[in-house]
Amino acid sequence: MELYNLKHPSQVVSFTQAVKLGLGKDRGLFFPKNIPTLDDIDGLLALPFVERSKKVIGAWLAEELGQDTVDRIVERAFNFDLPLVQADKDLYSLELFHGPTLAFKDFGARFMAQCLNELAKGEKINILTATSGDTGAAVADAFYGLDNINVVVLYPKGKISVLQEKMFTTLGDNIHTVAVSADFDACQTLVKQSFEDSDIRDGLHLNSANSINISRLLAQICYYFEAVAQFKKSNNSDPVIAVPSGNFGNLTAGLFAKAMGLPIKRFIAATNSNDTVPRYLDNGEWSPQLTVATMSNAMDVAEPSNWPRVEAIVKVMNWSLTDIKGIGVSEADTVDSVKALHAGGYLSEPHAAIAAFALKQTLLADEKGIFLGTAHPAKFNEVVEQILAVDLPLPPELAAVVPKTILSANLAADFEALKRHLFTILVK
Ligand SMILES: Cc1ncc(COP(=O)(O)O)c(C=O)c1O
Repeated sequence: MELYNLKHPSQVVSFTQAVKLGLGKDRGLFFPKNIPTLDDIDGLLALPFVERSKKVIGAWLAEELGQDTVDRIVERAFNFDLPLVQADKDLYSLELFHGPTLAFKDFGARFMAQCLNELAKGEKINILTATSGDTGAAVADAFYGLDNINVVVLYPKGKISVLQEKMFTTLGDNIHTVAVSADFDACQTLVKQSFEDSDIRDGLHLNSANSINISRLLAQICYYFEAVAQFKKSNNSDPVIAVPSGNFGNLTAGLFAKAMGLPIKRFIAATNSNDTVPRYLDNGEWSPQLTVATMSNAMDVAEPSNWPRVEAIVKVMNWSLTDIKGIGVSEADTVDSVKALHAGGYLSEPHAAIAAFALKQTLLADEKGIFLGTAHPAKFNEVVEQILAVDLPLPPELAAVVPKTILSANLAADFEALKRHLFTILVK
């Protein structure tokens, strides 16, 4: 698989290089030179998830890595369920939160960890990533205890739930965590600055595990195929899919799936009040505002880093951006959506509820829709309990971290301070 840098198209790399580098020159995103298409989509949809995913990933990577390696990576990464559950009339939730850290990030993080495990073969790797909540836990869990790999996770101090924080800051060993006194966009900027700094680049051989890493996006393509496969068992039409969006990795993966031939009627990009993209899709002006804190904190992103990839797919496929509907959902409507879903018998949390709300608003009479259930409701138990006035039992994965101690270092959003810290913990 060949990829080019969207900022410097003359920089062309293999998948292996793209996974190890994360970002290209000048923080440019890697983008595939060719998007493979799949024949016999019906035959593919009839396969079980893991077998189908081997073929979907194989279409991108078998030539470079060999189908056997692809099969091993897929089998080890995807070892949990992803049911499509009816949540309301004409509305289904693809529950992506049955992995070890109870969020959709488990797909990308586990797949990336297995890719590096296969591709790095004994090289020392340092992963630096920023999280607005769930990436941290998923990456920490996927890489915890792997030989030769150190992980550093930055997160916005006080802006993620305590449970979320405990899921990745209490492990220790090769997992280092840093609480930054700033918002997620500032954490993301620190990560990007680190990749640009020649001392760090040459001295620490950094890798990123954010959704900017192409391996994570390939993994996410697979669950869109599963969504459509399950949907088609009881529906003849093609679904509309609403994606709760922050950094827009998830939507990027969905568009890749559609470009490969998966029948999806259209996408809805649903955000919270950090609505840079819905406003842009409405009026053509890219004008990010300051990030605001919301209940769906993992989507508190004003400058989504994957957006250039969305535009690139639309361009190479000769689609139009107007085919993507952007909807920014207020806090009050998020609350109403969690309540409405619960009244209909479906327990949700703010991120998925935003996508459900956007679907309901825009679905036509003859259409059915799928929203992505990106996190387990118990991961956001404080806000869900408050909205619904119910007690939510903690699933065992979460109950286990409650008594543990947070091991994070605390830093200001200061690049020089971060640089000193990285050299202290990673050069031994
Ligand atoms: C629970 C949840 N939902 C949705 C999103 C948004 O996904 P993306 O950043 O790929 O747009 C995130 C991202 O962290 C998340 O954690």
